Amino acid sequence: MKRADVVFSGMRPTGRLHIGNYWGALKNWVGLQDQFVGRCFFSVVDWHMLTTGYNDTSKLVEHGREMALDWLAAGLDPAKCVIFKQSDVPEHAELALMLSMVTPLSSVENNPTWKEQLQELARTKAGLATAGEATKYEENKSGANYELRTYGFLGYPVLQAADILLYHGTKVPVGQDQLPHLELSREIARKFNNAFGETFAEPQPLLTPTPKVPGLDGRKMSKSYGNAVDIYESADGLKAKIMGAYTDPTRKKATDPGHPEPCPENPPGCSVFALHKLYADEAFVTKRKAECMAGQLGCVACKKDLLGFMEPAFADFRKRRESFAAKPGHVEEILAEGGRRARAAAQQTMDDVRRAMRLR
Ligand code: TRP
Ligand code: SF4
Repeated sequence: MKRADVVFSGMRPTGRLHIGNYWGALKNWVGLQDQFVGRCFFSVVDWHMLTTGYNDTSKLVEHGREMALDWLAAGLDPAKCVIFKQSDVPEHAELALMLSMVTPLSSVENNPTWKEQLQELARTKAGLATAGEATKYEENKSGANYELRTYGFLGYPVLQAADILLYHGTKVPVGQDQLPHLELSREIARKFNNAFGETFAEPQPLLTPTPKVPGLDGRKMSKSYGNAVDIYESADGLKAKIMGAYTDPTRKKATDPGHPEPCPENPPGCSVFALHKLYADEAFVTKRKAECMAGQLGCVACKKDLLGFMEPAFADFRKRRESFAAKPGHVEEILAEGGRRARAAAQQTMDDVRRAMRLR
């Protein structure tokens, strides 16, 4: 019997989300909850946070709550999808243990993310500059004195496979960077099926549209670069950030021809222009590009236009977020209820798994 598709995705609770997280993931999730009503699971994967951040767990609960608030304010609706915390469903750990039995050591050791991070750590320990692309675990790098060659971190993708398979997830909205992890989830599902009989469908990545969201300095937006715009930015904070954003260093006067798009004269392209593409309509973007290239307006005016587009969206978001935050215990209740629903599904799967493994 073929089961209906199930969407599963998770985010590590790193705290407030930025607009890169919104355009890159969250916005797509909100669309998916309407496309797969009642069959989407979105998880605050706090145990994954432990795999690299066990040295400081003081903010874990608070960050999970902040992130869940961001999700709700962005439009995730607990009436349409299940929003829950991984650690509320202990079956994730049980399935991860079972899956670890069939996971070849070579597959986890060759996981590019794991190798990359260990290199990064070695560099930090050697006191070398950590130039180059930020890895996704970079936020923990400052405390690089703690051991990262752990069993738990090596097992990151096994836990991720358990997350997905526990709900018979078939569609996993992720970014390009997660493809190696997802490939491993597929391999683990196959290995389990080979050993114990057909139990899991192989999850497929759902590569959703992810427009490029540059940081305020022209580099990729990342919390660890300090160049991010939070999705919950105050009006003043937003204004300060946009007015200080990277534009086109070749422009000295408003009449100098600009380079809004990435090009040899302005390799990263203008961050303000890239944000116009997200927040303004197409006609405006076309017109602005021409005006900029012809040197018909200054960057300050252009930034003010951008604020005019961004601020209403942010105000809307702030209003929704504050209304959720103002109800005492509201987020906690949504997470608890999501946890109960997730757990009911997870327990069914684990019954099947234990039977397949002849543990029962
Ligand atoms: N590894 C993912 C990330 O860092 C988070 C994650 C954990 C996840 N479990 C998942 C994503 C299951 C999709 C499905 O972005
Ligand atoms: Fe960027 Fe606008 Fe300045 Fe052109 S005018 S460089 S698009 S901020």
